[in-house]
Amino acid sequence: MIIGLGIDLAEVSRYEFDAGTLAWFARKIYTDEEVAYVMRKRNRAERFAGFFAAKEATRKAFGHAIPWRQIGVTHERGGKPAIKLFGRAEALPAMRKVERIQLSITHTSLIAAAVVILETA
Ligand SMILES: CC(C)(COP(=O)(O)OP(=O)(O)OC[C@H]1O[C@@H](n2cnc3c(N)ncnc32)[C@H](O)[C@@H]1OP(=O)(O)O)[C@@H](O)C(=O)NCCC(=O)NCCS
Repeated sequence: MIIGLGIDLAEVSRYEFDAGTLAWFARKIYTDEEVAYVMRKRNRAERFAGFFAAKEATRKAFGHAIPWRQIGVTHERGGKPAIKLFGRAEALPAMRKVERIQLSITHTSLIAAAVVILETA
């Protein structure tokens, strides 16, 4: 059963980082895994925008301002993205009886979007 839903859009042009802003975002917003993933890929700004949208969509789905770096996007072997929670946010799913978090991300050169669905048994 679906018990939470979140959606977000992010404009790619805002995620064209130079070395200085990347260092700031890596410290404040993105997990080490997210940064490492993006740096291995092309279209980096699109991917950073997609991850930001995924974090916002997760906050909306939970209705809770989870700190940015406590929400991470990870990828399964086939490339499918998933949300991983860290720190205090790790306790949220159990508190809300959330058994699964579904994530979908898309991006073009202009915009990225993410949808998060929270499911219970
Ligand atoms: C994956 C796929 C949806 C990408 O479509 P696209 O139009 O080129 O790209 P989009 O911008 O819409 O989406 C890219 C995002 O899709 C997500 N994605 C990648 N692989 C995925 C998969 N297997 N299932 C679901 N989502 C996937 C990722 O989040 C990716 O962005 P990120 O790498 O920055 O996180 C498309 O290639 C596809 O349908 N592949 C077949 C699905 C599959 O199961 N492949 C398995 C390969 S082993």
